[in-house]
Amino acid sequence: MKLPAPPIPDALKPRPPQPGEGLNGDRKLTPGKRALKEAQEAGISAADWVDERTSLSGSMRWLMFRKVPKGTNWFYTLGSASLFAFLSQTVTGVFLAMYYEPTPTRAYESARFITNEAFLGEFVRGMHKWGSSVMVILVFVHMARTFFFGAYKYPRELNWVIGVVLLILTMVMSFTGYLLPFDQRSYWATIVGVNINGTGPLVGPYLSDFARAGPEFGATTLARFYALHMLLVPGVLIAMIGAHLYLVAKLGTTAPPWMKFEGDEKLRESEV
Ligand code: HEM
Repeated sequence: MKLPAPPIPDALKPRPPQPGEGLNGDRKLTPGKRALKEAQEAGISAADWVDERTSLSGSMRWLMFRKVPKGTNWFYTLGSASLFAFLSQTVTGVFLAMYYEPTPTRAYESARFITNEAFLGEFVRGMHKWGSSVMVILVFVHMARTFFFGAYKYPRELNWVIGVVLLILTMVMSFTGYLLPFDQRSYWATIVGVNINGTGPLVGPYLSDFARAGPEFGATTLARFYALHMLLVPGVLIAMIGAHLYLVAKLGTTAPPWMKFEGDEKLRESEV
């Protein structure tokens, strides 16, 4: 059954001209007030100009004005919180990449430079470091929310599967980022992590060879981790988050399990 399109909110409806407005009315305004009015309308005209050429307002309405089930609560903000953590990691990561050098001889020194000498470097590096833990925790709690609310059931199974991929990618981000400061702890911890991966069945040894860029930890390992950490994995993450959010917008969110069905009972039977 096709649902009716959501109504346009009042704020977006064009207002009929009021007495004293329009071309003749504008002439009565003082030059200052007219300039202010024109400035206020400039934003609307610019948005109209873009919309006339792209027709984006239809998809924006589809994306943003939707019905939300009764009983929606703070637990539903965990997905957006994970998204915010990801965006924060992206912004701080871009600034770190401006100073970081991914070579065995320069990595430690460049990380030290960021913390001790670059403007706000300690703050940005701290945000990125603690933000990574925050993101992992948020993604896990968001997953628990969707599990306990039964949001993985029909028709959202595919979004759950995409979510599992997002969880794995988030952990790969943490793992590949851990080596980058290139101090004793990150070096040896990564060796342990890669060796544990190597014990996995079938693909395990291939995975660890791929991560090390060869059978031994070498000069190219750090470059490989850096490329994975700042190009490949974030790229796939962005694509997967896009697909995840598309499905959330298309299917809507689930009502909490304690809410009673209030619609037409016949409609419910026809779904079975
Ligand atoms: C980078 C990680 C992730 C981001 C940015 C993200 C983002 C979101 C957002 C914004 C929503 C809609 C609001 C909400 O229900 O909280 C959502 C819903 C959902 N997410 Fe995620 N998510 C992530 C990871 C995961 C994981 C790991 C799973 C499960 C394995 C998952 C499964 C779901 C499901 C099933 C829904 C639909 C919820 C419903 O219909 O009530 N997501 N996600």
